[in-house]
Amino acid sequence: MSFSASMVRLQNVYKVYKTGEAEIVALKDVSFNVDRGEYVTILGPSGSGKSTMLNIIGGLDRPTKGAVYVDGEDLQRLRDSKLARFRAEKVGFVFQFFNLIPTFTAFENIMVPAEILGLKREESKERAKMLIRKVRLEERKNHFPHQLSGGEQQRVAIARALINNPVLLLCDEPTGNLDSKSGAEIVSLLREINEEQGATLVVVTHDQRIAQEADRVVELVDGQIFEE
Ligand SMILES: Nc1ncnc2c1ncn2[C@@H]1O[C@H](COP(=O)(O)OP(=O)(O)OP(=O)(O)O)[C@@H](O)[C@H]1O
Ligand SMILES: [Mg+2]
Repeated sequence: MSFSASMVRLQNVYKVYKTGEAEIVALKDVSFNVDRGEYVTILGPSGSGKSTMLNIIGGLDRPTKGAVYVDGEDLQRLRDSKLARFRAEKVGFVFQFFNLIPTFTAFENIMVPAEILGLKREESKERAKMLIRKVRLEERKNHFPHQLSGGEQQRVAIARALINNPVLLLCDEPTGNLDSKSGAEIVSLLREINEEQGATLVVVTHDQRIAQEADRVVELVDGQIFEE
């Protein structure tokens, strides 16, 4: 792995979905860079390719054509098992619908990625405790997801995304399912994570508050990118 100034680099990326006869071009020649420590938001109408782009950046999906580099790593060269390892070590994901495990407590949910990666249990527990304080859920750590509000569940999901100390945090409409007040808490939490931990953030959102906090806003329209 070589050092590169960019945390994320997409070069001429296409994503084409084939369903039966139809072809959908979800990303059309997208080139895009994110610097280390930068906070970027992606705006754009429904169906414009935002989630597709985020999933390709995070190695959840592969482009049809084009190159993707994250933290100096050429994702195209990683076979599936290596790509899974890359995701677990380097990337944190936060989704609109939280995706917590319903039978696990808040604390256990936060620990899941560390267990998958086989990190030392005691160190991970210490980090999980620190994160649960950071997202202000100490009083709720033994609650199950159904006992938590949407905003609280999303804070658990953010702590879970940070447990492995990722270099890159990717969020797909993290406030899309929250009321205005819970959303505002997530907005300030993301800002803190970027400033205090120096994490690089790429956040897909319709939320103007997030866009205002970010260093840079890019727009996707019909699978093509525009810088503002
Ligand atoms: N697995 C798939 N198979 C076929 N088409 C897909 C698939 N995933 C996405 N698409 C299509 O690709 C396009 C981009 O989808 P994507 O989910 O990236 O949009 P989006 O910008 O995230 O939209 P939204 O704001 O509604 O979440 C859409 O036309 C969608 O229908
Ligand atoms: Mg989407």
